[in-house]
Amino acid sequence: RLEDVETFHNISFPGHMHTQKSLSYATSFQFQDSDIVIITYPKSGTTWMQEMVSLVLNRGDPTLSTTTPNWARAPWLEHYYCPQVLCTARCPRVITSHLPHQLLLPALKASKAKVIYVFRNPKDVAVSYYYFHKMAKFLPEPGLFDDFLDKFLEGTVHYGSWFDHVNGWTNSVEDIENFFHITYEEMWQDPRSSLQRLCAFLQRPLQEEEVASTLKHCSFGFMKENAMVNYTLVPQDIVDHSQGKFMRKGKIGDWKNTFSDVQSHRLDTVFKAQMQNSGLTFIWES
Ligand code: PPS
Repeated sequence: RLEDVETFHNISFPGHMHTQKSLSYATSFQFQDSDIVIITYPKSGTTWMQEMVSLVLNRGDPTLSTTTPNWARAPWLEHYYCPQVLCTARCPRVITSHLPHQLLLPALKASKAKVIYVFRNPKDVAVSYYYFHKMAKFLPEPGLFDDFLDKFLEGTVHYGSWFDHVNGWTNSVEDIENFFHITYEEMWQDPRSSLQRLCAFLQRPLQEEEVASTLKHCSFGFMKENAMVNYTLVPQDIVDHSQGKFMRKGKIGDWKNTFSDVQSHRLDTVFKAQMQNSGLTFIWES
């Protein structure tokens, strides 16, 4: 059933895409050195990075990204259909995951796969996740934002704590041979240099017109209209499109339209307590 929950190592996952078997498959996966692995906490720029990587691998040609859904080009490792998609995947395989580091790092450490970690201001993540809960019938009814924020700060939402996820993965730099991390904010503020950094990491330099085409096709305006990434292909009973859009706003700092001052301070307090040892400097405004 749509609302079923799968619990794995104390973290809850939507039961309609995850099973004990699919989660075990993911955590014991044998990566190939040529794999490109996109890792994110939900609502942090996953689809955007999937699109950017697809376009880079296709030298800016949008044919694949406008004809094949993102989940068939860059499947989520922990989703039950992943083995089937990877059976016919071309090399390099692009694989996506929302798993926290404690579940996926052991499998990844053994390979030279290229790992891309994207993270986003947790206030914008919380707001985006909240609105997605209203549309996605495989996620629990979120209730009021204040109640949802409690669960987000406790880390009892699906996929676990944002703080553990970001701390864990950004501290894995030394454990992963080929590791690249970037924020949603950087991609938003400077798409061109973000793309250049990504191309350098993937060792796939692009010509100027290929850069221009990539930037155009992974822009918010273009992706919003692309049925292969805007989730309009998902049936109404699974994602209720009358409740909102997957490509909702695509902005930075939109949290200010949902958070009260008190809620913002609550998140700041948890952030200070949990991120102080992260060694990271966050460029976003708090
Ligand atoms: S998911 O469900 O975890 O895969 O969602 P994810 O793709 O990580 O995050 C969805 C949010 O990313 C925004 N988005 C973009 N922003 C800017 N530019 C581009 N090209 C882009 N593509 C997706 C999307 O609108 C969601 O954010 P919000 O704040 O809800 O608009």
